[in-house]
Amino acid sequence: MTCRLLGLAHRRKRKAQQAKRFGLPNGEPDLLLARVMANGFSKAAIHLNSRGLEQQRFHARAAEATRARFGRRVFLRGVVEPSNFCRENCHYCGMRRDNQSLDRYRARLDELSELLIHHRPTSITDLNIQTGEDPVAVRETVIPLIRRLRDQTPLGISVCLGTLKPEMYDELQAAGATIYIMKFEIADAALYRRLCAPGCLEERLEHIRLLASKGWKVSSGFIAGLPEQSMPELLSNLEVARELPIVGCSVSPFIPGEATPLHDAPTGDVELTLNVMAMLRLMRPDWVIPAVSALNLAGPGSGYQRGLRTGANLVTMNLTPSGIREDYLLYKRDRFIMTEERILSAIEAEKLIPSEQSLSDFYSGNEEKNVSAAALA
Ligand code: 5AD
Repeated sequence: MTCRLLGLAHRRKRKAQQAKRFGLPNGEPDLLLARVMANGFSKAAIHLNSRGLEQQRFHARAAEATRARFGRRVFLRGVVEPSNFCRENCHYCGMRRDNQSLDRYRARLDELSELLIHHRPTSITDLNIQTGEDPVAVRETVIPLIRRLRDQTPLGISVCLGTLKPEMYDELQAAGATIYIMKFEIADAALYRRLCAPGCLEERLEHIRLLASKGWKVSSGFIAGLPEQSMPELLSNLEVARELPIVGCSVSPFIPGEATPLHDAPTGDVELTLNVMAMLRLMRPDWVIPAVSALNLAGPGSGYQRGLRTGANLVTMNLTPSGIREDYLLYKRDRFIMTEERILSAIEAEKLIPSEQSLSDFYSGNEEKNVSAAALA
């Protein structure tokens, strides 16, 4: 079905459901807020703008909700980026196909597997393999890499590779990946279109549903503080996330990317981003919510720590070889790299403990054999 038809059918269905659920006429201007509030968000919606002591208390509540469900465990995942070719053209992303100032690369399979099998940091239990939307790299590098990692390491494997053909999802799954990260990016269909996010919103949501129906554990995500994003638009991300068959969700602050049409736009407010993260956590105490690396651009060195203090329970460590890492350009070249040492000290500073169980085992319900009582306390 085309994007337009998918969109129409889904919007009609959602409108009917919403009207029924909230007893409100379609198209009412503050319908969104009313809906959010009707579901117990009235206080949280006010918290979007909260600052100072009140904000600290709000974030502490979110962190407590995480502790009640997950204990003090935090998942640690490595990230490797085998290709920065991308067929999409998102206005916010530095890897967009129109960025001709970027050196494009595809990493060598042997180099990556040697690095990940023999020289990875000992603290990571999972690995996320992430690329621009590049089916060639998926076939030539990602799938064989997953097979090798499955054979030779206990790592849980996540992938974040964009919208692909369904057969390719199957091949990735057969190779041994279990978690698919597919961010829906922007819940408002008009803003999604204006910023040329991948395909169209309905198609993106369809792929998320398709992946979940095929047995993938799907994690999603969205961007907070995009230019022209109104508060209701921002809140609608929570609403879309809530309806999806996902097990985790991220919130990234908008970072004006180098060589993108939005390079001049203001950076998304990190306080607003953290407030949305806290709302997400209180909405879904059982989800895995990462402290995203973009938080470290907002406050070098303290981003992960603030994320953890707001209820995040996953942190990532970049393992892309340094010669090519600079060209994996989501935002700017001066990415603040969190080393294993920095990450472990951020976790310790928050009195948390790195999980010994992989995210992949956690999702598949494999009980951890050697989880210490201290970690669950
Ligand atoms: N600001 C914040 N997040 C961004 N991403 C890409 N560009 C930006 C940006 N400028 C996020 C998108 C994408 C992921 C790989 O990085 O959500 O899916």
